[in-house]
Amino acid sequence: DDLEAFIKGLPKAELHVHLEGCLTPQLAKRLAKRNDMPLPDSVKKASTAEGFAFHDLTSFLAIYYPAMEVLQTAEDFADLAMDYLTKAHQQNVRYVELFFDPQAHTSRGVPFPTVLNGYRNGLLKAQRELGISASLIMCFLRDMSAEFAMATLMDALPYKDVIIGVGLDSDERGNPPRKFAKVFGRARQEGFLLTMHCDIDQQDSVKHIRQAVHDIGVDRIDHGTNIVEDAELVELVRQKAIGLTCCPVSNSVVTSDFKGKEILQLLRQGVRVTLNSDDPAYFRGYVNENIFKVAWETDVTRKELVQFQRNAFAVSWLSSWRRDRYL
Ligand code: ADE
Ligand code: ZN
Repeated sequence: DDLEAFIKGLPKAELHVHLEGCLTPQLAKRLAKRNDMPLPDSVKKASTAEGFAFHDLTSFLAIYYPAMEVLQTAEDFADLAMDYLTKAHQQNVRYVELFFDPQAHTSRGVPFPTVLNGYRNGLLKAQRELGISASLIMCFLRDMSAEFAMATLMDALPYKDVIIGVGLDSDERGNPPRKFAKVFGRARQEGFLLTMHCDIDQQDSVKHIRQAVHDIGVDRIDHGTNIVEDAELVELVRQKAIGLTCCPVSNSVVTSDFKGKEILQLLRQGVRVTLNSDDPAYFRGYVNENIFKVAWETDVTRKELVQFQRNAFAVSWLSSWRRDRYL
């Protein structure tokens, strides 16, 4: 209807989407064939006509990592980036900050430069052919060691043209922000901007958000919705204008609640919350579907839907002269 057309027409920025989470079963099949390798079991078992099937974070990660086996050459990484950016462009997304997980590739023998040259070529091609702008945020896998993260940071230093920041993802249980304080301190010194996943309904969600803000000094928080449990922390994040990158469809898959109420409450309290897709090939929702979910299932107004996108450009890491052309 009319509201659907309004959402589709909004110029959008996406700040929380994992490149490896954009690997559709269709693309995985094409790459497996091109690389003359069998389709990984996880793709075979989990994929249906529409996409992957699973029900929580553990069952998701158990498909997500093995499926990456089909990514072998720089061309594969370029095609993955181009595949996502083509879909984002169709949804009127103008600017994207893309997470990627280099350790999921280097740990299985794919050289770091292969990953980076591929992704860089994909981003350049999308800019050239579609006019969509994108940058990379390199995530450390928090269930791996701080030493491996530091070595990965050193690998990234020659790629500052395309990597603008660092993040932290994978399994949060027992892997608090503090574990990576030294790595993030060094990343800051090197000029990278900082963000971190503080996932939905973790055992120590609020404690982890506090560490991310106070001990790490993050510029943004990914998810972070559990901040609603602590009024003081809400006020601090509001004052510091720290963006929260929320993902309603992802929330509804990994928990039983899409957190629409909490997301809207934070928006109305003046926190810079944004709406994003997380792992769209797996959770079956690109950015428009995430906005539709909030639109159909809460009392959000059109003005507030615009505010989500204003927030996204405002807390994005576009240099300010480029940002002003979108706002
Ligand atoms: N890596 C990719 N997607 C993720 C998610 N939803 N949670 C934690 N780590 C991830
Ligand atoms: Zn994520």
